[in-house]
Amino acid sequence: MTEHIQYSPEKDALVLLDQRYLPTREEWYVCKNVKDICEALVVMVVRGAPAIGVTAAYGCYLAAREVSRAGVADWKPALTAKLEQIASARPTAVNLRWAVRLMQAEWAKHPEFSLDELCVFWLAKAKVVHAEDIETCKAIGASGADLLSDGDTVMTHCNAGALATAGYGTALAPIRAAVEQGKKISVIANETRPFLQGARLTAYELYRDGIPVKVACDNACALLMQRGLVQKVIVGADRIAANGDAANKIGTFGVALLAHEFGIPFYVAAPVSTIDPETADGSLIPIEDRTPREVTHVGNTQITPDGVGVFNYAFDVTPNRLIHGIITERGVLTTPYTEAIAKLFK
Ligand code: MRU
Repeated sequence: MTEHIQYSPEKDALVLLDQRYLPTREEWYVCKNVKDICEALVVMVVRGAPAIGVTAAYGCYLAAREVSRAGVADWKPALTAKLEQIASARPTAVNLRWAVRLMQAEWAKHPEFSLDELCVFWLAKAKVVHAEDIETCKAIGASGADLLSDGDTVMTHCNAGALATAGYGTALAPIRAAVEQGKKISVIANETRPFLQGARLTAYELYRDGIPVKVACDNACALLMQRGLVQKVIVGADRIAANGDAANKIGTFGVALLAHEFGIPFYVAAPVSTIDPETADGSLIPIEDRTPREVTHVGNTQITPDGVGVFNYAFDVTPNRLIHGIITERGVLTTPYTEAIAKLFK
């Protein structure tokens, strides 16, 4: 599945498969400017750390186009302000900031560019970021496939599949690669309250691709592990600190604790762009606090009494001691993570 993020030359826009409506409706969301891009990120038309990085790269191009069309004389500060708007649309996934900083670094190599030259340059660069993300995910798959044995059932939390990336996925990449090697692998997708990425998205894409998948309520995790129904856990990450602590969708930490209790290997799969060497440990990772409505309602149905408060932290941090390995496109990192990560960034 690689068609869910598309640049349309006819519309001069980024066209996104709207993930809010999957699996029942396939609707497309057209981003023509920075406001559209930020809205798509905030309401989660597009979500998943690498996918929001790719979206942000195209967003930089659209920002430049917008400033160009507005004919702003002092265009550099105007453009920089728009880039900051994109970079701060969501706080936890470092790929968003990573992509914007990458585009800025490319621009810095060509200070002589006019705004129109920058538009052409950035569109080409965004297409490269897009294409490279798919290759990176395939390399994560190649790194992690040997960790899986024929007959394994792998539990995953949230959606770290094709839809969360430009294609192929991160947590789902070793599963896809093992299946391509001829191994029989099945998946348990935790439903992932409140946005239901597991039930709606992971199940959707694996079922479409013919990989056996069953959805489990988040609170079934302990029972399934106790019954020996889970051989491995693989999850994605939104930001991995310099010591290997990994932020991922809320509930992941609980899954990791249970995996530890039952002696089940727990892996994090992520591109190197998700590792943030500037964040020393997990306590420093900002945790997104989203709208209460995602918890108080399921679809349009209210499920909590009027006036009752809720928690809607979108992520939690799994401490490095619970992680058996971090599967990247450059191999599987193991403890001590501080050394392994420092070596990677040397
Ligand atoms: O809030 P979301 O849906 O953007 O959260 C996504 C996750 O937590 C994913 O597991 C993570 O971004 C990795 S995606 C390859």
